[in-house]
Amino acid sequence: MARPDWTWAYEGYEPAKERLREALCTLGNGYFATRGAAPETHAGESHYPGTYVAGCYNRLVSDVQGRDVENEDLVNLPNWLPLRYRLRPADTSPGPWLHPDHPSLVEHRQWLDLRGGTLSRRSVYEDAFGRRLTVEQDRLVHMGDPHLAALHTVFTAEGWSGELEVVAALDGDVRNRGVPRYRDLADRHLTAWETGTEHGSTVWLRCRTVESDIGIALAARTVAACGPGQNGGEHRAAPELLARGTRQTLLLPIAPGSPAVVDKTVALYTSRDPAIGSPLRAAVSAVGRAPAYPPLLASHHTAWSDLWQQARLEVPGEPGRILRLHLFHVLQTLSPHTAELDVGVPARGLHGEAYRGHVFWDELFVLPFLNLHLPEVSRALLDYRHRRLPAACRAARAAGRVGAMFPWQSADEGREETQQLHLNPNSGRWLPDHSHLQHHVGSAVAYNVWQYCQATGDTDYLYGNGAETLLQVARFWADSAEWDESLERYRIRGVMGPDEYHDAYPDAERPGLDDNTYTNVMAAWVLARAGDLCRDLPENRCRQLFEQVGADPAERERWEDISRRLHVPWHRGVISQFAGYGELAELDWDGYRARYGDIRRLDRILEAEGDTVNRYQASKQADVLMLGYIFSPRELASLFQGLGYELDDATWRDTVDYYAARTSHGSTLSSLVHALVLARVNRDDAWRHCEEALTGDVADLQGGTTEEGIHLGAMAGTLDLVQRGLTGLEIRDDALWLSPALVPQLSKFRVRLRFRRHWDVDLRLRTERLRIAVPDSGRPAVRVRLDGQTYVVEPGTSRWLELPDEV
Ligand code: BGC
Repeated sequence: MARPDWTWAYEGYEPAKERLREALCTLGNGYFATRGAAPETHAGESHYPGTYVAGCYNRLVSDVQGRDVENEDLVNLPNWLPLRYRLRPADTSPGPWLHPDHPSLVEHRQWLDLRGGTLSRRSVYEDAFGRRLTVEQDRLVHMGDPHLAALHTVFTAEGWSGELEVVAALDGDVRNRGVPRYRDLADRHLTAWETGTEHGSTVWLRCRTVESDIGIALAARTVAACGPGQNGGEHRAAPELLARGTRQTLLLPIAPGSPAVVDKTVALYTSRDPAIGSPLRAAVSAVGRAPAYPPLLASHHTAWSDLWQQARLEVPGEPGRILRLHLFHVLQTLSPHTAELDVGVPARGLHGEAYRGHVFWDELFVLPFLNLHLPEVSRALLDYRHRRLPAACRAARAAGRVGAMFPWQSADEGREETQQLHLNPNSGRWLPDHSHLQHHVGSAVAYNVWQYCQATGDTDYLYGNGAETLLQVARFWADSAEWDESLERYRIRGVMGPDEYHDAYPDAERPGLDDNTYTNVMAAWVLARAGDLCRDLPENRCRQLFEQVGADPAERERWEDISRRLHVPWHRGVISQFAGYGELAELDWDGYRARYGDIRRLDRILEAEGDTVNRYQASKQADVLMLGYIFSPRELASLFQGLGYELDDATWRDTVDYYAARTSHGSTLSSLVHALVLARVNRDDAWRHCEEALTGDVADLQGGTTEEGIHLGAMAGTLDLVQRGLTGLEIRDDALWLSPALVPQLSKFRVRLRFRRHWDVDLRLRTERLRIAVPDSGRPAVRVRLDGQTYVVEPGTSRWLELPDEV
C-alpha cells in the first residue's frame, strides 16, 4: 500500500460524486488520458468514461435556435476500459452483471497512488446466498511509453465456486456528452469504424474524426490466468467483432483460494503521431510487444520516479497532499511527452470536455512553475503558440491591425475558437459570447516567452522564435493604442479584461470596454520588453527580424512612447478596472448572498433575473489584481512609475481591498490570485483564499464544474503560489531574487529547481530562515538576492539566510 501522503483515496461508493471522482482519478501521460470511470459502467448520469488524446480536435456544426454554430471539440475517443463480469456458480444459473451501482456491492474503495501513477480499487459483491466476489483492480496509463495503458484485475471467490464470465471490450460508439450545457450541440465526432483481430488474443478498432480526419486506432490484448495458484494455464479471450467495437469473452474457473487474474493491455495511436506507418499497424504491434503486467508496471513506476525527481515540491500536511495531487495532474497533462507534440495548455486538462479542450490564457498560471522543472515542456508549449503566429497575424490583419492577435480560445489551427453563443443554465437562454475581446491573452504569451528565457537563459529561443512572438504582440498593442488629445495619453478601447462579467458598458450597442487597466499595463510591459530585446539583439538579427515580420525599425520609437503613456483610469483613490468602472452601480452583496447562497456565477443569476452584471461594480475574478499576481510590488510600482503614475503601498492596499470586496470568485483562478496578492500585502485572509485555491477542485467549489474537467491553471497556480509567490522568486540578471511573503499556514516547504544550468537547486523555507543548497556539479556558483544583499552559494555548499523582519 502506498504512503498516505502519496495516496488520494475514496472510501465507499457514492453515485452522486462518481463523475467528480472520475475527473480527479484520471490517469494520463501528456499524450493521452482516461477518466477514472469504473470499467463496468457506461456513460450515464453517474458515470462518464472519457479518453482524450492531446490536440485531437474535431469541428461540428450545430443548429442552435435556427442558427448554424460551429464548435471545435477535444474528441472523446473510443473507450478502452470496458470489462464486465458475472458469476456462473456451478450449481445454478448465471448471476447478474456486476457493477458498482448493483445492490450486491458491499464494499468499495478506490485510490490513486500518486508516486506510482496507478488507480486502484477494491470492490466486494455479495449475493443473497452469501456468495462473495472480490475485485481488485489496478490501472495505468503508461508514463514511459505514452501509447500504452493496462488494467490488471484479480477476482477472488468466497462461498462458491464455478466460473466467472468476463467480457472485455473496446467501445467505439462514444460521443462527446460530458458537459450537460452542451447537450443541444452536435456530439458525434467519430466515423468509419472498422474492427478486426490479430494473433488470437488481440482485437483492434479503428475510426476517424468526422471533419479533422484524424485516424485513430486501438488494439487490446486480454489474457487471463486462473486455477490453483493461478498456474492453471493462460486463457485467451474469444474475439467477437461488432460494427463499432469489439468484445472478448472469457469463462474462467474460479473457487475459494483459486483466484482469476485478467490483464487487458491496450495501445492507442492516431495519424498525427510521428514515426509510424499507420496508426493501426502501430497499435497492433505495440500491444503485441508490450510485456506482461508486472514488468509493464515496473517500467511505468520508473518513468514516474524520474518525473517526480524533476518536479519536487514538498509541503507538509494536508496542503502538501493536495499540492501533490495538483502536481500529479499537471504532470499527467503536460509531461515530457508533451515536448514532442504540437499542443497547448488545455484549460481543463485532458480530464473532461468542458471548454472543449481549448487553450486560453491559463498558461500564464502554468509555465512559471514548469519553467523551473521541465523547461523543454515550456518551450514546446511556447512553440505551439509560435506555430500559430501566422494565424494570429492574419486575425490581427482581419481586424485592421498589424502584429499578432492571439485568439482567446485556441485549438488546432490557432484561429479564434471562442463559442459565439453560450447557454445560461439558470435561464435556459443562449446568449452572445464576446469573450473573444480578451486580447490580453497575447500579453500572457509574450510574458511566458520572457519568463521562460529568464529562467533558462535560453537565448537561442529568445533571439529566435521568442523574439518573433514578442515583437508581433508588441506591434499589435502599438497598433491598438489610439492617442487621445484630451487625456494626452494612449488608450486601448473596445476590449475585455480578464474579468468576464464585464463585456460592455450598460446599454451600449457594441461590446467592449475602454482602458482596461490590466490590458494596458500588460501592453506597456510587452512594449518595454520588446524594446529591451531589440537593444540586446545583435544588430543584424534585429534588422533581419524587422524585415521578417515586415516592420519598420522606426516603430520602436512609437513602442517606447506608448509604453510610457498608456492610460490607467482611477476613481476614488484606487485604480479602476476600466474607464467608467467607478460609475457603475454598487451591488447589494449581502442581499444576493442571503437570497442565493452561492453567488459565484452572479452573471447567470442576474441574467436570469432580467438584469445584467455589466451594470455593477462586481467582478467574476481578479482583473486589476492580476497585476499584483504577476509582478512583485517593487516591479509593479516601477511599471506605474514608467507610465507616469505613482503607485505607493497604501494606494495598492486600498486597491486590493476595494476589489477583494467586489469579487464573487466565479473562476477558480480568482482565489488563487487573491491568495498571492493578499499574502504580499500581509492580509490575514490570504490563507482563506489559499484554502479555496487548494480545495477548488478536490471539493468542487465551483459546484459541478470539476467533473467536466480539472482546472489546470488553478492547480498549477497553487504550485506556483508556493514556489514563486511565497518565496517572491524572480529570476533576473542571472540571479535568484527572493522576497518571501509568508502565509503562516504554509511557512515550511522545500522545492528543487532547475535553474539555468543547475539541475537541482534546493530551496527550503523554515518560518524565518531560508536554506539554499547548490549541488556539486562543476557549474558556476548561484547568486541569490535577498533584502538588498547578494549572497553567493558555491556548488557543493548550502547556506541558511535569515529572512528580513517584516516578512
Ligand atoms: C475564466 C478564464 C479562464 C477560463 C479557462 C474562465 O472561467 O474566467 O479566465 O481562462 O475559465 O480556464
